[in-house]
Amino acid sequence: MRDKIVAGNWKMNNDLAETEELLGKLKLQMVKEPEATVMVAPSFTNLYPTFQALKDTPVIVAAQNMHESESGAFTGEISAAMLKSIGVTTVILGHSERRAYFNETGEILAKKVKTAIENEMTVIFCFGEELEDRKNNRHFDLVEKQLKEGLFDLPQSSWKNIILAYEPVWAIGTGETASPEQAQEMHKHIRNLLNKNVGKEVADSTSILYGGSVKPNNAKEIFAKKDVDGGLIGGASLNAVDFVEIVNSF
Ligand code: PGA
Repeated sequence: MRDKIVAGNWKMNNDLAETEELLGKLKLQMVKEPEATVMVAPSFTNLYPTFQALKDTPVIVAAQNMHESESGAFTGEISAAMLKSIGVTTVILGHSERRAYFNETGEILAKKVKTAIENEMTVIFCFGEELEDRKNNRHFDLVEKQLKEGLFDLPQSSWKNIILAYEPVWAIGTGETASPEQAQEMHKHIRNLLNKNVGKEVADSTSILYGGSVKPNNAKEIFAKKDVDGGLIGGASLNAVDFVEIVNSF
């Protein structure tokens, strides 16, 4: 059985006080043993306090990014070792905002993934097409290209530490979601690609999350699809009540 996962990506939102407030509300709302694995990804400055606040809960704390080098003269960057030294062993890589605004190419992402895996971290690898790609019926090929560039050179043994997050760019923060059918169609395509390029075992066991305007009123329908194993949640994860409702949508 694949892990069901709901991860909240808090992006560049919430200062320390706001983070503490959100964490307090989350702890109040959340059932002790949710069916899904729950993750939250605060900003770098809020990672340590979040990790401390959640350490007696099953919630996993993830970073939103990390650098591909182990250490060195990379002003403003954060390494895998730094994350691990505060207890954080999960990292989101390849989010479309990183690809679009910070020029993270397939090549850079492949290096980041490799570094994370070598440091025994878990990677939530994000990818997905732009509206133009879908309009021109290039979405399946584009997703294949992103997976190939970022992941298909990894040894099979690395895949136990990979979570995939399909996030069509046109659905992120726009209020427009892929329909459950569109999500299922793409997730099935992704699983077929895993089968072909990595192997059946990995295809069957890798969790594929959907991301893009998941809200309490659409999560159930999307998560009910056969190849959708959960969600990566942006906007709605900033509200504890909404996020917990999404967590409980299986
Ligand atoms: P959204 O963001 O839920 O606000 O659309 C999703 C994401 O970017 O991971």
